[in-house]
Amino acid sequence: MRVLIVGSGYVGLCMGVVFAKSHDVTLVDIDQAKVDMINRAESPIYEKDIDTLLSAGISKGSLVAKNTDAEFQPHDVVLIAVGTPSSDDGSVNLDYLKSAVDWIFSREAQICNSDFCVICIKSTVLPGTTTEIVQKQIDARNLGSRIASVFNPEFLREGNAIYDSINPDRIVIGSDNQRATQLIQSLYESTIESDTVFVEMSKESSELCKYVSNCFLATKISFANEIANIAERIPNADIDEVMHAVGLDGRISPKFFGSGAGYGGSCFPKDTIGLISFAENILKTDSRIIRAANEVNKTRPDRLVDLLLECVPNIKGKKVAILGLAFKPDTDDTRYSPSYRIIDLLQSQHAEVWIHDPMMKKILENEDPPKNVTIAYTIEECLTDTDACILVTDWSDYKNAGLASLVAPMRTKIFIDGRRLFVKDEYTQNINYRTIGVLTKCSSIDN
Ligand code: UDX
Repeated sequence: MRVLIVGSGYVGLCMGVVFAKSHDVTLVDIDQAKVDMINRAESPIYEKDIDTLLSAGISKGSLVAKNTDAEFQPHDVVLIAVGTPSSDDGSVNLDYLKSAVDWIFSREAQICNSDFCVICIKSTVLPGTTTEIVQKQIDARNLGSRIASVFNPEFLREGNAIYDSINPDRIVIGSDNQRATQLIQSLYESTIESDTVFVEMSKESSELCKYVSNCFLATKISFANEIANIAERIPNADIDEVMHAVGLDGRISPKFFGSGAGYGGSCFPKDTIGLISFAENILKTDSRIIRAANEVNKTRPDRLVDLLLECVPNIKGKKVAILGLAFKPDTDDTRYSPSYRIIDLLQSQHAEVWIHDPMMKKILENEDPPKNVTIAYTIEECLTDTDACILVTDWSDYKNAGLASLVAPMRTKIFIDGRRLFVKDEYTQNINYRTIGVLTKCSSIDN
């Protein structure tokens, strides 16, 4: 099958390298530097296992990247995977999507197979968008007999996107055209390696399904975080014991009950705000639960700083280390990372802030460092002579180092574990170890 993917960002590239195992894939992007990198088999993004598949696709000739001015052959499927960022008011900005669709129709005779072609949106869009932006153009041009529009959401986790592409829990196909549904199904059937359920539904249901999946997972995390606040005030209660047992109820599942510093990243914060804005501003209905999930999430960094302030009420001039800037491990993505709020809170109390992340070099290739913060490139440098440490991201580097080795170079061993990495460790009396979801106290060491 010939597949054209418009937008070679995170989703487009990950899907592209996976589809190139069994299909002929052309990636399109307006960014020539990115196109060149891909054609040199260099991944513009950091993602586990992407390099091997990218090299395999390029050397086999089943994967090629082009800019929008290039010549194209006809394709069976055109996937749209451009960004749909949030506008300031929380609404979804469709500018990139609209220009991608305009470009497709301006080149339709060349890029779409003359027998039958599916134009499929993978970008996250609000219900009604596929019909409004794609199907209306098909109808206006009388192309309905040979072009169909489909919505097919992605559920890829950053850091696991290749694995998730090959082993999806389900493939949701939003379509009102049987031939189009079957084409999308066979596109996946030759690349996936696990038993996957294909779920067929209307375009509008599938568009809503993507938002609801992320909003529900975000709500689950916030629910666990709220219970963590309760558990840490009850002697002998432990949030993980509680949520694990709750999750074993077949109606619930233990996944995404991990309490901690709260959710960040490009999807949960954006999609919760997007659905709230759609529900309240467009549909004029409440979205109290999703709103509450975001409210709870906003309090998580504050809770970690509170744990510190309970030990050291005055942190003015104290050296405080933060471990982790990425919003989660195995990514260089810092969007909506809880670390930023923690930095602000510490700086508002005039602490001297240091920060380490295993991906710091890669992070700083794409963005400025946080203001007035000292960057440390090794864990030891970050922790040497510090008065306190807040662990925000659950990188395996920190877990593997172990609590004893992390605190060894600290001046005062106050360690706030925002991800419960060391909650089961035995620690010595001279460490003030505090974490969430279980009662921990400040012992009277010399602060
Ligand atoms: C998410 C969805 O999982 C994915 O299906 C969707 O397509 C995109 O959004 P991603 O943002 O890459 O993926 O990360 P994910 O692993 O889901 O974690 C999101 C955030 O939730 C992270 O900040 C993570 O630390 C946090 N999280 C996750 C928790 O706090 N507790 C958990 O139990 C799980």
